[in-house]
Amino acid sequence: MARYDLQGLSLGEVRARPRSPWRYGEFLPLRGDPVSLGEAATPLLFCPRLSEGWRTEVWLKDDSGMPGATFKARGASVGLSRAVELGAKRIVMPSAGNAGGAWSLYAARAGVDITVTMARSAPAANQAEVTMAGAELILVDGSIADAGRVAKEIAQESGAFLSTTFSEPYRLEGKKTAWLEVFDDLGDDHSMRLPRTVVLPVGGGVAALALAKAADEVRTLGWTGDEPPVIVGVQAANCAPIARAFDRGDDDVVSWEADPYTIAAGMRVPAPSEGALVLDCVRRSGGSMLAVSEDAIVAGVKELASTEGIFACPEGASAFAAAQELAGRGELEGPVVIYNTGSGAKYAEALSKHQSEQVG
Ligand SMILES: Cc1ncc(COP(=O)(O)O)c(C=O)c1O
Repeated sequence: MARYDLQGLSLGEVRARPRSPWRYGEFLPLRGDPVSLGEAATPLLFCPRLSEGWRTEVWLKDDSGMPGATFKARGASVGLSRAVELGAKRIVMPSAGNAGGAWSLYAARAGVDITVTMARSAPAANQAEVTMAGAELILVDGSIADAGRVAKEIAQESGAFLSTTFSEPYRLEGKKTAWLEVFDDLGDDHSMRLPRTVVLPVGGGVAALALAKAADEVRTLGWTGDEPPVIVGVQAANCAPIARAFDRGDDDVVSWEADPYTIAAGMRVPAPSEGALVLDCVRRSGGSMLAVSEDAIVAGVKELASTEGIFACPEGASAFAAAQELAGRGELEGPVVIYNTGSGAKYAEALSKHQSEQVG
């Protein structure tokens, strides 16, 4: 885990810089300039209708405008930049889809060779972005777990830099910037402000761990006196190994038996390698893990788009659906931030298919 000497860093100094993820350079492991595609700070949108209906303050962090249209750009720009700094000439990584797409785009920008292994059933949009970016795409029968095994073999044989989730610590550092932006935007002239509750999708769980780490770092600096946020992690009911362990009160996460389909492809992670860590992080925050059905996810995409004008990806919509469920039970304490991790436009075909199946 990366640790920084942040002593003496003032909030005013950071806020004097342009609004972008790179404003928080001291919280990142990079020595030089990042490989960048012009990332800007993404919007933190206040949701007036949801706030009124749910009777609490509701915000949505919208990462759909990142390069490649998902939050994976945050991890990819920092992870790839650091790999290059460490001398990597070739990178290999397994992906559920969006990370492979993002890393391929940043690798193209940096002029670094990259091989992405993916399940044959990964979304067509992700397969296209990898090949269009000139990366090597290897499709594997099975799930991301099988893609992970193939990536590891390639790294061992070729000496390529293996960038599996959690095999390197840097992408998590990059994903922290979403939360630093949120704390910054919620704050006032004098301090940052932590949300009371964050509801976010969980696949491998990097975004959840990045949130806890970012909140810890700004609290240590004294930039906020707030309690750390309650973390509500959300999985698709069709693939919910961490939520199941939470319900059972287990400390370990057992792999999901089958490799089922979910429209929220980024949450199709049947064997999260650091599932126990994610479970512990959620529990320590006083939060919970919820699982939502496919119908609830698609209904969430529709409701967010039609009530607040946000075309969320199914992963983000799953967080919305879970927040809605908690609000209905009177168990959602604001300010709440719902994390939309990407654009629904990347899932247009799957969403249309789901809709037509329902109608037909
Ligand atoms: C759009 C989207 N949201 C959420 C996730 C899950 O993120 P994490 O692995 O950080 O839990 C993914 C992972 O692929 C994703 O692509």
